[in-house]
Amino acid sequence: PIPVIIDTDPGVDDIVAILYALASPEIEIIAFIVSFGNTDVESSYKNILKLFDVLSRHFEQFPDHRARFPGFSSRPYIARGPSGPLEGALHSAQYFHGLDGLGNIHERHRDTITTGRGAEFLRASGKAGHELALELVRSYPPRSITYIALGPLTNLALMVREDPAACRDHLDRVVCMGGALDVPGNTSPVAEFNFFADPFAVKELLMDGGFPLERFVLLPLDVTTPHELRFPLYASRVDNTFKDTSAPSQASAGKPPLVHFTSAFLERAREVMVAFGKDAMELHDVCAVWYAVANPPLGERGLLDPGHAEGWKAHPRLFDIERTGELTRGMLVVDRRDESTTHGPGENRSEVQAALEKTFSDATAPALVMK
Ligand code: BDR
Ligand code: CA
Repeated sequence: PIPVIIDTDPGVDDIVAILYALASPEIEIIAFIVSFGNTDVESSYKNILKLFDVLSRHFEQFPDHRARFPGFSSRPYIARGPSGPLEGALHSAQYFHGLDGLGNIHERHRDTITTGRGAEFLRASGKAGHELALELVRSYPPRSITYIALGPLTNLALMVREDPAACRDHLDRVVCMGGALDVPGNTSPVAEFNFFADPFAVKELLMDGGFPLERFVLLPLDVTTPHELRFPLYASRVDNTFKDTSAPSQASAGKPPLVHFTSAFLERAREVMVAFGKDAMELHDVCAVWYAVANPPLGERGLLDPGHAEGWKAHPRLFDIERTGELTRGMLVVDRRDESTTHGPGENRSEVQAALEKTFSDATAPALVMK
């Protein structure tokens, strides 16, 4: 399996993505680095412990389900990453994810959600997230680890500050959910949350040469904005599934622990989405994990290698990021002036390839977008 480090700020869609990762034999999660983002870093940490606690109780009741989550048995490391951005004000997305990052299950479902046993199934490291991640990265062969970033990029920026060569030579690729290129933002009219949360880290990594762009796979909001990629929370089905979880006394009644847990945090996500006028949720972080599971490591090839990722199209785009705008923090300022050369109708592959190479050779701030 592909060794992966998951940098995460769980977070409703983060937990769904992590469950998917734990259930994917193609990858092996060697560590979770938890970060501020959707909630504070301590809550992010607790949410991973909660997930492992829930899974352990679930497997006690349903021993044959354990084989469906091979990642659970590999005892990943866990470490606390950054509690705020490299610079600038701290923001979270608790308005959506709840104060605890999981729809306030700490209030609604306190009785059944945790027994405090989650830590038994993880290897807790006292090191800072970027130190643990660097130690692991150095201890693996060159170009072997996939770094999946599901939250702000702060931890990765700290790794690159400390040891750029280890990041460049030892990581195979970074797969990152972040940014909004040609679609509106979600945190502000123009900014996606992860990039909004630490635009300074994005700048250091992507625009200031921190990490090789041909190994940086960006899955921006553009990927999850099309309706078919939303996870529909249809009222009739959700109501039946979730109703009894709202009353703590009935919370565990007859429900397998994993179903109870996921129902509990999706319950509030649904309320928020309905308040926003849509009964569906975008599974942003799941798409990033899916990319890492479905696409083999790059090895010696870059993303622009024609043989890479059949069926996907790598679009190099030129953009910069706004860090301190009065209204535009985290906005990607996309340079579309030359795009007819790479995105015109009737394009063929060799022309596109030539254009891409040209773009890369003189770009000021390119990034690859898989969509
Ligand atoms: C991203 O921000 C968070 O709220 C989600 O977990 C996802 O990583 C989407 O903008
Ligand atoms: Ca996230």
